[in-house]
Amino acid sequence: MEAFRIHNPTQIIFGKAQIAYLGSEMRKDGLQNCILIAGGGSIRKNGAYDQVINSLNQAGIRYTEAWGVQANPRLDKTRQIIDQAREFGAEAVLAVGGGSVIDTAKAVAAGMYLKDIWNAFIGKEIIKQALPLYTVLTLSGTGSEMNGNAVITNTNTHQKWGITSQFIYPRLSIIDPSLQYTLSFKQTANGAMDAISHILEFYFANERALSTLAINEALLQTITAMTDRLQKDPEDYVARANLAWSASLALNGLTGFGMNSGDWACHAIEHALSALHPEISHGEGLAVIFPAWIEYLSEKDPSRFQRWAKRVWDEDNIAQGVRRFRAKLQSWGLASSLRDLSIKPDELSQIVDIIMLNPNIGGVFKLSKEDLRLLLMLAY
Ligand code: NZQ
Ligand code: ZN
Repeated sequence: MEAFRIHNPTQIIFGKAQIAYLGSEMRKDGLQNCILIAGGGSIRKNGAYDQVINSLNQAGIRYTEAWGVQANPRLDKTRQIIDQAREFGAEAVLAVGGGSVIDTAKAVAAGMYLKDIWNAFIGKEIIKQALPLYTVLTLSGTGSEMNGNAVITNTNTHQKWGITSQFIYPRLSIIDPSLQYTLSFKQTANGAMDAISHILEFYFANERALSTLAINEALLQTITAMTDRLQKDPEDYVARANLAWSASLALNGLTGFGMNSGDWACHAIEHALSALHPEISHGEGLAVIFPAWIEYLSEKDPSRFQRWAKRVWDEDNIAQGVRRFRAKLQSWGLASSLRDLSIKPDELSQIVDIIMLNPNIGGVFKLSKEDLRLLLMLAY
């Protein structure tokens, strides 16, 4: 087991109708106003918006609203919201939505104290403080509600890059799984695949962290079983709740204890796909890349993948485990090849170049430019 540190400062309030506590919690923290950040309007349909506004009004918290954060959130929008927050004199940032809204809110919270927020992504400025951040989660998958990461796309340079900082953990996140009844099954499955990928990014990194491996296997099985249930009944509260909490645990630190920071090559590859094609959702891109990555690397280093095939898929043969994994993702309606994602063959070399903008690819299994080319061909 590798050395590790634990510190996750986010308070979680979990369950039905818990948004009611939002305003009073902000009051307790001494706040008088906030900037509310949202996406394209889903929070009006799932009821989150009305509940949030009621709670803020009851607590006497003033707010300004910033709408229009897109999936695969963009730098230009982030900068625009930072200007709005400065003009308003925001004391706190409140994200109501999925990972894209929460990531934008994190970048806004930190960007208030920087010359330009993109500098933090490219290592030119260091985040030393941020406005306090509150979130109301409406889509489980990214784990952003309980971690210190944010991913934003610079559309000019095709860089979909991340920041990690202790200052951008949400102070409080409210997770009401019933807000997710309105998700299409496709979006539910995208989120599930993202959570599965967060666990797998750590899983193959260290075979001696036995407690973490066992937790991770339990989470993988729970996420898969709950997603199957939601395919039949989107309003199955037990399934929504267990999927939501598993997804938060998948990237809040728990699944990485003693795992030497994990690998994260599949995430870097997927981020290049959705940087080039913002219409590709993060979860669906991962559904194409992860099985191909396992297939490619298990030929070079089978011992790393044996336990996964056996414990997760009850298969002695790794290739058979990969087949079962792919079949499950297909049964959820997710893409299984780059072709399914409408990527053209002549774009593959551009994708490799975008990935190589950050050449340290893979924490455990280092991937060269040639590895990436072969891997993308396998995924095609
Ligand atoms: O924009 P609105 O109208 O809100 O609609 C959203 C959006 O179209 C919709 N939606 C959200 N909640 C809903 C709902 N529709 C109906 N009912 C609800 N309850 O879903 C669509 C997708 O939302 P988005 O926030 O983009 O999805 P997700 O939560 O999957 O976030 C993906 C982003 O997070 C990044 C991804 O790369 C991607 O940019 N990630 C962030 C991470 C982190 N901060 O730790 C880690 C991840 O690995 C990931 O990279
Ligand atoms: Zn992810």
